[in-house]
Amino acid sequence: MMIYLDNAATTSPKPERVVREVDRAMRQYSANPGRGGHKASLDTAKAVFDTRTLVKDFFNMESEEGVIFTPGCTASLNMVIKGVLKKGDHVVISCLEHNAVLRPLHKLKQYGFIDYTVADVVIGDDEATLQSFRSAINARTRMIICTHASNVFGIRLPVERLCALAHSYGILFCMDAAQSAGVLDIKMTDAGYDIVCCAGHKGLYGPMGIGLLLINCDVPMNTLIEGGTGSESFNPAMPGYLPDRFESGTLNIPGICGLGAGIRFVQTKHRERIAEHEMKLIRYAYHRLKNDDRIILYTPEPELEFSAPVLSLNIRNHDSEEVSKYLSERFGIATRAGLHCAPLAHNFMGTSESGTVRVAPSVFSTQKEIQILCNALKNFSHSS
Ligand code: ALA
Repeated sequence: MMIYLDNAATTSPKPERVVREVDRAMRQYSANPGRGGHKASLDTAKAVFDTRTLVKDFFNMESEEGVIFTPGCTASLNMVIKGVLKKGDHVVISCLEHNAVLRPLHKLKQYGFIDYTVADVVIGDDEATLQSFRSAINARTRMIICTHASNVFGIRLPVERLCALAHSYGILFCMDAAQSAGVLDIKMTDAGYDIVCCAGHKGLYGPMGIGLLLINCDVPMNTLIEGGTGSESFNPAMPGYLPDRFESGTLNIPGICGLGAGIRFVQTKHRERIAEHEMKLIRYAYHRLKNDDRIILYTPEPELEFSAPVLSLNIRNHDSEEVSKYLSERFGIATRAGLHCAPLAHNFMGTSESGTVRVAPSVFSTQKEIQILCNALKNFSHSS
């Protein structure tokens, strides 16, 4: 039996109700929504609308029109970055960003289109983090884009305060919630977040290939992809209204319905309780490992207020890939080693050479599994 602790890459297993819903959607919603007036098409459109409403309520948004279904969080972030920014704009990001933020910005910068500044995060000092973002803002800054929590080290950013800071300068705030949606609280209207991008297949327990672009503001945003929407067909330009403007082509109905089932699963289990359960496991591991001189832990003791339930570690003088391979081959434990597509975060932590071994539990993980992980890590260090 595999012990799966790579849930930050994708949650596994998926809840049975998600698997069943994907199966049901493929059988029952096999007609194209918004493309026909016949009953089967209308039924599929209703299923999509119901999921849109569920998402809107889950993230406390103003309207379901701002819920855009995308192929994933990376696609959502690309749509925002390439759709909102204009020539000469400047962006502030954090030093913990994933390549899904860094690479689109880098490309635009290479073309001489925009510029960006990487603001430092000061662990445990939100005031200093805010100051670092504030110093990075200039007269051309159009947007702050930052992660809710690092996908490698779990470190949370003071996103509500960063959002308020952005607004005080008349700047947009876009949050990358790939790692946090379904685990940490995201109330868009209360917090004032303009745009949030989410993966569907992580903490929301949906299938891979479905993501969310959540727009809770009036922002002029260009399209990245144009095509049929089933609306305004005589218009050679994309419709100006949401969600049609950003949803051309046939929607991923099994993905959307599966995502809806995943969100209902999270609601049934209670998001706060899932977060507490996962954090309890991370804290347990932290305590078991912190006094072992050969094990390196990078962050202060994780607590939900400051961290998402993710732990990165290394065994001194051993490459993270070697340790992750040992865990997999000897104990059937799945972790992710290396750079986690987040070179900025590893540069920040000084782990770009070795990478780290990342441990990420889910609602299905148990203390027994974490015990086996800790024993395996301790034995590795003892045997080396
Ligand atoms: N971004 C995902 C991770 O952190 C895939 O592993």
